[in-house]
Amino acid sequence: MAKLLVEKSGPLKGTVKIKGAKNSVLKLMAASILADDSCTIESVPELLDVEVMATLLESLGLKVDYNRETEVIETYPAEDLKCEAPYDLIQKMRASFLVLGPLLAKKGIAKVSMPGGCAIGARPIDLHLKGFQALGAEVTLGHGYIEAKAEHGLVGSEIYLDFPSVGATENIMMAATMAKGQTLIQNAAKEPEIIDLANFLNEMGANVKGAGTDTIRINGVTSLKGAKHQTIPDRIIAATYMVAAAITKGDITIENVVSSHVKPVTAKLREMGVTVEDEDDRIRVYTDGPLKAVDVTTLPYPGFPTDAQAQFMALLAISEGTSVISETVFENRFRHVAEINRMGANVKIEGHSAVIQGVESLQGAQVKATDLRAGAALVLAGLVAEGITEIDEIYHIDRGYPQIEKDIVSLGGKIKRVEI
Ligand code: EPU
Repeated sequence: MAKLLVEKSGPLKGTVKIKGAKNSVLKLMAASILADDSCTIESVPELLDVEVMATLLESLGLKVDYNRETEVIETYPAEDLKCEAPYDLIQKMRASFLVLGPLLAKKGIAKVSMPGGCAIGARPIDLHLKGFQALGAEVTLGHGYIEAKAEHGLVGSEIYLDFPSVGATENIMMAATMAKGQTLIQNAAKEPEIIDLANFLNEMGANVKGAGTDTIRINGVTSLKGAKHQTIPDRIIAATYMVAAAITKGDITIENVVSSHVKPVTAKLREMGVTVEDEDDRIRVYTDGPLKAVDVTTLPYPGFPTDAQAQFMALLAISEGTSVISETVFENRFRHVAEINRMGANVKIEGHSAVIQGVESLQGAQVKATDLRAGAALVLAGLVAEGITEIDEIYHIDRGYPQIEKDIVSLGGKIKRVEI
């Protein structure tokens, strides 16, 4: 067990380089189940979630070589691919459920433990299952497991998603790569991670078109080969450091970022009076003036990302005036409010919105990371709070930020990890 101690720091200044995106790499790893040869995935961040996915792939029979130094994962196909993903791995990480699509495509049968609810909401999987059923799979639920079967293979179909779910789009897209005929996913998610996965699948020989738009067209192929792929940069870590520059009134240049992936964050920071200079693959964020309150509504991409909502709340907590954050993607993603209020913020939850009355300063306190992004928000708040902020349950942060202390220290921030 460890905790983070964050001390009030001056303006953060310098350059930080963003690593590969967790929410892409986990799906790329799941997709490697589909390949008949080895796959190479580059820019793999060293994270707990990556370790969990590697263990899961190994439990299915794949061989996984993970070189943490070079950030490269190589996967080798299973001699005898297992089709069951057990509870202990699925409950550690919801994204494990993403092996169902590839297993179903490759084996015609998959049995995967049902993910439970999680800290940010109930997060059902009905849309994933609806998609598999539309592709001809017989889906049954029993004893906490979902079994999907398509003895004679999957058959392409038209699938309309009631909500552009990232996970459902990815799971169905992977399943459809080897279905007979054409699959259309309508109202598909448009996140950059979807495009990254589609590119990888195409490099493996799949025929996926339209990723990044709301209609994805997949023409099934009979087999997929190995491929080598570079993971896209993590847009949420980039957004977190953009907020770090604003909240500490610093000057941070972010390298290895796709600036178009963080447009809504850029727009909101500018609306607050922060200067954001963006080129294609680098962004400089700086300010020394007052921060103005703004309203934020989280939405599926290209809207404002729910994964940057908590971090933005930390910023709005010390801005001038009243801001409203409306969370429309998850029904329960405000657990950080109680923690940030313990630091002296004035945030009230009203239904799916949080009303933030800016205060002049925050105070360091003992707080806990209630989920990954909530944890990042507390680090940001700690950088400007008087005294020391002690953050517990930081394993959440370690799931998604490969080197948050190292990055922050390199920018002049005061943060350290202590074992307890
Ligand atoms: N939903 C359903 N039914 C489904 C699937 C989703 O109702 O079958 C609902 C969810 O309950 C939620 C909404 O749709 O309210 C969005 O869920 P989505 O499926 O889009 O999210 P996800 O695939 O489970 C990924 C990221 C999340 C990120 C969301 C939204 C990964 C591993 N996770 O989750 O990342 O918040 O998309 O962008 O890619 C994080 O990194 O901190 C994180 C939580």
